[in-house]
Amino acid sequence: MGHKKRIGILTSGGDCAGLNAVIRAVVHRAVCTYGWEVFGIYRATQGLMVRPVEAIQLHPKYVENWLTVGGTQLGTTNTGNPFAFPMPDGTFRDRSSEIIEGYHELGLDALIGIGGDGSMAILRKLAVQGGINLVGIPKTIDNDVGITERSIGFDTAVNLATEALDRLHFTAASHSRVMILEVMGRDAGHIAISAGIAGGAHIILIPEIPYTLENICGKIRERQESGLNFSVMVVAEAVRTEAGEPITSLQSHGEYRFGGIGQYLAHQITLCSGAETRVTVLGHVQRGGVPSPLDRLTAGIFGVAAVDLVADEKYDHLVTWQNRQVVPVPIEAAIATYNRVDPEGSLVRTARGLGICLGS
Ligand code: F6P
Repeated sequence: MGHKKRIGILTSGGDCAGLNAVIRAVVHRAVCTYGWEVFGIYRATQGLMVRPVEAIQLHPKYVENWLTVGGTQLGTTNTGNPFAFPMPDGTFRDRSSEIIEGYHELGLDALIGIGGDGSMAILRKLAVQGGINLVGIPKTIDNDVGITERSIGFDTAVNLATEALDRLHFTAASHSRVMILEVMGRDAGHIAISAGIAGGAHIILIPEIPYTLENICGKIRERQESGLNFSVMVVAEAVRTEAGEPITSLQSHGEYRFGGIGQYLAHQITLCSGAETRVTVLGHVQRGGVPSPLDRLTAGIFGVAAVDLVADEKYDHLVTWQNRQVVPVPIEAAIATYNRVDPEGSLVRTARGLGICLGS
């Protein structure tokens, strides 16, 4: 079984449902199976940056009820790149060495990082630079991490977006309106296409497929002419204007976030079809809340698998889900390709086969 290990765990990047369930699984496997110690590090790598290091020893009893708790009990950040860390005076500083020192100061044998592709790239860079024994677990509501077929948080987000579409159907029909639901997903349209099909949307727009307003309005008119004078539409936040402009807003630290394409489309659709439109921006509701059964299941699977990789000292790997099983993949290879919706893939073909307009 090897010597008694001391491992750290952190959550990095945007939060999502299922993170606490992963931490719970890791603690159970590490403590109950292997007899190790587990330390939860606060606010992604920032807990290792401060002195004294901000971490808490996690016992199975302590995390017992974390299975269904939303968010992350350890805190996180998606703006704290340690290689260009935003300082209070507005400058950016490389603080990677402070994090690496923090890891060694805590006496850790390994670190389990739960994050998306951006976080994994940063954690791996730190690991290579500082001799950190890293194992990664993919999480993201965007479902855009390389080759894994599942990422923690995606299923819960799709469930929520589907429920929103279900609800919009009733009010759309009652008022003879076009209801537009804007969902998250960063540059990928996974949430939009999955929830759109599951929620019976009539129009789905994703950034991977160019659209024209004429096609959208054609679909709305076609439905009107057949006596269906309402339509439900889902649009991914990264969809651009018809002229190709992304709709973003500037946030703190000079970062941009998507948001507003739904409102743009509503205005254009009213102009070209005469339909009354309303917009719902689902936003961070997709990230919070109780994780779905599938996300809890994946959390258990990934948590146990990650600890087993540490036991085998198989570091620098990400646990992924492929063809019904866990497959550890070197982190560099796992995040090399950004996973977008395949315009020729099964989901797109399904949507078209169901008569859903994709705008093209
Ligand atoms: O990556 C997850 C995500 O929720 C994206 O879908 C979205 O574009 C972004 O994060 C929002 O980030 P923030 O929490 O900084 O507003």
